[in-house]
Amino acid sequence: MSRTTLHTNRSSLSHKVGYAVRNPAKIAPYVRRTARDTWLRLRHPGHVAYYRAVMASDAGRNPEAAVGSQTHERWLALGQMQFDYLVEHGLTPKQRMLDIGCGNLRAGWRFIAHLDAGHYYGIDISPDILISAKKTLTTYGLQDKLPHLTITQDLKLDFLPSGHFDVVHAHSVFSHSPLPVIDECLAHVGRVLAPGGFFDFTFDRTEGTEHQVLREDFYYRTETLIRLAEKHGLRARFMDDWETRKHGQSKIRVTNPE
Ligand SMILES: C[S@@+](CC[C@H](N)C(=O)[O-])C[C@H]1O[C@@H](n2cnc3c(N)ncnc32)[C@H](O)[C@@H]1O
Repeated sequence: MSRTTLHTNRSSLSHKVGYAVRNPAKIAPYVRRTARDTWLRLRHPGHVAYYRAVMASDAGRNPEAAVGSQTHERWLALGQMQFDYLVEHGLTPKQRMLDIGCGNLRAGWRFIAHLDAGHYYGIDISPDILISAKKTLTTYGLQDKLPHLTITQDLKLDFLPSGHFDVVHAHSVFSHSPLPVIDECLAHVGRVLAPGGFFDFTFDRTEGTEHQVLREDFYYRTETLIRLAEKHGLRARFMDDWETRKHGQSKIRVTNPE
């Protein structure tokens, strides 16, 4: 990420005007998205209800685009990137994984194929994307792996056992989450982590002012998220080796103290 990108405040009027001048073809889609999101926010108060409605609208058109991939090649590449990273960090078939905001299994199908049967647990707030996840599962013939795919309303994780998951993963989820949602997750994730387990999450990083766009995309400073994890008694560290991948977001790893 360039220094300029890291200091851009996408919610500022000057950025919006400059961006519009440089990208006139994007003005009409942006206006349409703003109108749709305003309508959805009015109809669905509360972030989770609103974002679920955004996902319903996006997934109805194209589930791969709804999880952020404009082409199938990109969908495959983004899943591969997540999978390769965790395997490089030691993910073995015997381990148990919780995939928070699993979407339509862009990476999930690779984890399911890699892990022993029943060792993958995907949760998401969007029923529409979970229906698409089941299609992905069928496409890749992974029925015998019997993954869990569960709808959730919050990130209290209260329906999951303590000390169970070696790896908890949330890719491109906190980039779409206001701080209270992240706070809730960090308040509870330590309980479900197995001894020695870790929680990796990506986020849209800013080194300038924290901001959000259409309440769909949220930009945080690294220290904000690290402090939030520490507030809940967790250790958190910025993952430098993720920065070398061709992905616009950064990654933090959270663990329980020894
Ligand atoms: C950009 S997609 C990424 C999906 C998947 N992690 C991947 O990399 O392909 C974000 C997903 O997170 C889900 N999501 C957003 N907020 C969530 C929350 N608070 N709890 C659980 N899932 C959430 C969305 O419904 C969506 O499926």
